[in-house]
Amino acid sequence: MSNAYTLGEAASRTTGQVDSLFLFIAGVSLFFFLLVEGLLIYFAVRYRRRKGTEAASTPDIRGNFLLETVWIVIPSLVVVAFFYYGLLVFRDIRAPVPGATDIHVTGRQFLFEFTYPDGRTAINELRVPLGTPVKLILSSADMIHSFFIPAYRLKQDMVPGQYTTLYLHPDKAGTYEILCAEYCGVGHSTMRASLIVMEPGEYAQWREGNTTAAAGSLAEQGKKLVERSGCLGCHAVEGKQKVGPNFGGSFGREVVIADGTTVIADEEYLRESILDPNAKVVKGYPSVMPTYKGSLSAGEVTAIVAYLKSLSGAGEKEKKGEGAGADRGKGLTATLGCLGCHSTDGSVKVGPSFKGLFGRQVEFADGGKGTADDAYVRESITRPGAKIVKGFPNIMPGFEGKIAEEDLSAIAAFIKTLK
Ligand code: CUA
Repeated sequence: MSNAYTLGEAASRTTGQVDSLFLFIAGVSLFFFLLVEGLLIYFAVRYRRRKGTEAASTPDIRGNFLLETVWIVIPSLVVVAFFYYGLLVFRDIRAPVPGATDIHVTGRQFLFEFTYPDGRTAINELRVPLGTPVKLILSSADMIHSFFIPAYRLKQDMVPGQYTTLYLHPDKAGTYEILCAEYCGVGHSTMRASLIVMEPGEYAQWREGNTTAAAGSLAEQGKKLVERSGCLGCHAVEGKQKVGPNFGGSFGREVVIADGTTVIADEEYLRESILDPNAKVVKGYPSVMPTYKGSLSAGEVTAIVAYLKSLSGAGEKEKKGEGAGADRGKGLTATLGCLGCHSTDGSVKVGPSFKGLFGRQVEFADGGKGTADDAYVRESITRPGAKIVKGFPNIMPGFEGKIAEEDLSAIAAFIKTLK
């Protein structure tokens, strides 16, 4: 179908259905518009008063049964046809599709949050496999938003305290825009997401998490994540403040928290603010940010922290390669949860402190001894049960296969700096 008059390409069967209906109504309306206006102009010219002729008296016509019947019946039939055709399309678009995958969508100022059946969540990004119908279950956390996919010609309100639904037929691979089509506040125009229809094989691969290896430096990856995670709806990088604090220059600054205390906006503060935004809200800002726990992986949080850091110039040192690994390792120990059990100041938590660990002679639970060198640190992260330090419980989860080689090196480099 030609799309010269429409918003985008035909990406779903619903696109064609709605377009045909639209064309039908527009075509019939155009026909009657031209007919009525044409006759109006024709009669005005044909029966105008000519120079030199006597003014004829208007004929006394009391009615014409046939004519009146025709102009009542034909328009009525046309309107009923509009209604009936519209009803058919509406019913078809709204009809439950057996075997559709349920995906929950929550609208909130100013982003869309998608929850997949297996519990994964994503912000502003809906990925679906080509050819498998999807049932979207829409709701809102704050006010009325409207979920609009122009390429599918589908739109549905998202109402707080209520579920509404929308069925998608992803018939063509590609990336399509999702917009909020209901004015919902200052960030309304930034409330957009992507519908990414993937080839089934690609989709399966993505589900396995193999497509996360993005190109570019950590900070560049972070920048991309910030752009597609909806952060910029509420945070400006620099310039005029939006709903939340600006990102530029945030790193390393002393910030005043809502309860009056001050904290340094270091890696851990940024990490916590992404995963548990209400823990330490900057004074003067509303406590409205949703948590990204579950929607961003530890590695993604690390990348975003690296990006925010680069905005304040603190990343310069890293770019030169100096301390690069160690700084990244520090971020990783926070995001991977290592610091829950290992301190960096010598105090003993559940596991041995990282401070002074590197290069030390350690005694193992089985009586053996060894030096905590690079190889030992790496092994203890990937297969913690292999050589447990004497006196500590064997409870650490193994990170084998869950952590990239360079991340291992970075963590080892970080522990090395804690003399
Ligand atoms: Cu949400 Cu406009």
